[in-house]
Amino acid sequence: MTPLRPIGESRGTTARAKVRILDAWRAREDAKPGDAVRAEELFDVSGTAAVVTGAASGIGLAIAQVLAANGARVTLLDRDAARLEAALQEMAAGADVRTEMADVTDRVELDRAFDAAAKAHGRIDAAFANAGIGGGPGFLTIDGRRNAENSFEGISEERWNAVIAHHLSSVFWTIQAAARHMKPQGGGRIIVTTSIAALKTEAIIGAPYMAAKAGAAHLVRQAALELARYNILVNAIAPGPFRTNISGGRLNDPAVREFHARTSPLKRMAEPDEIMGLALFLASPAARYITGAQMVIDGGASLGSAD
Ligand SMILES: NC(=O)c1ccc[n+]([C@@H]2O[C@H](COP(=O)([O-])OP(=O)(O)OC[C@H]3O[C@@H](n4cnc5c(N)ncnc54)[C@H](O)[C@@H]3O)[C@@H](O)[C@H]2O)c1
Repeated sequence: MTPLRPIGESRGTTARAKVRILDAWRAREDAKPGDAVRAEELFDVSGTAAVVTGAASGIGLAIAQVLAANGARVTLLDRDAARLEAALQEMAAGADVRTEMADVTDRVELDRAFDAAAKAHGRIDAAFANAGIGGGPGFLTIDGRRNAENSFEGISEERWNAVIAHHLSSVFWTIQAAARHMKPQGGGRIIVTTSIAALKTEAIIGAPYMAAKAGAAHLVRQAALELARYNILVNAIAPGPFRTNISGGRLNDPAVREFHARTSPLKRMAEPDEIMGLALFLASPAARYITGAQMVIDGGASLGSAD
């Protein structure tokens, strides 16, 4: 394979410079269709600046860790001060990371946090809209009994509003905050954590979560359409069951774990670090022709159950 490190490349160049470098490589006369570039160039995020919401725990923490471990400068945004501090301590020594305390359902706070991140790191190349709360139980319990409190008639206005604020409105505010910085800088990546709840119904999770995640998935497609002109790529990651702290740690409950093991083809839940490859990919030069996509990472759970 032709060596692919073209003229002038060095670690720490900006994402835009890297895209230009890959374009320059592609245009080289000796490049043949089917030639691959090396993984360290395809997935190189070093020197880029990222903001990750909900970065103090679970999926967001794993995303922040993989970006920082690969040389990105990362702002960890969360509303949980204690977990944010613990997350900062967990990051690899020498990682260029900082924190912002903000509530993603409050657009003023979110804008302030994005402005501070852009000021500290000079730009925002990737924004992960990931923060969220549990959707609450559904109309069936995990042992298949009806749960009147979580029927359509039983769900309170307060719960509906909280879930929509966290999983739909906050995604809208985060896309707004990110696009405001990415347009003038000439591009960027916005990556939203949706869920397989955006694709299929689920009896054990509340209806508001289903609606909010499906809404967020379509918002991703609409934003991708509008922002393509500005070289801002917008995609979604749709996880299946991951063992995180969501819903007060409900996914660590042995009965819930057993339910997911039973109903998912790979027979287990995912650990948070299993999100890392997909997150890195979507933030990297390797994904530069992908926009408006929702990538499922669920061990086959959305396919149905198998033996
Ligand atoms: N764990 C799963 O099985 C699963 C499956 C599909 C989708 N998801 C989605 O993944 C995302 C991350 O969830 P997780 O499972 O890692 O949960 P988690 O509870 O481990 O982490 C969520 C983080 O978001 C933060 N957060 C919540 N509300 C916030 C707010 N208003 N402002 C700022 N920060 C806030 C929390 O403090 C926490 O640190 C969520 O959008 C969730 O819906 C999770």
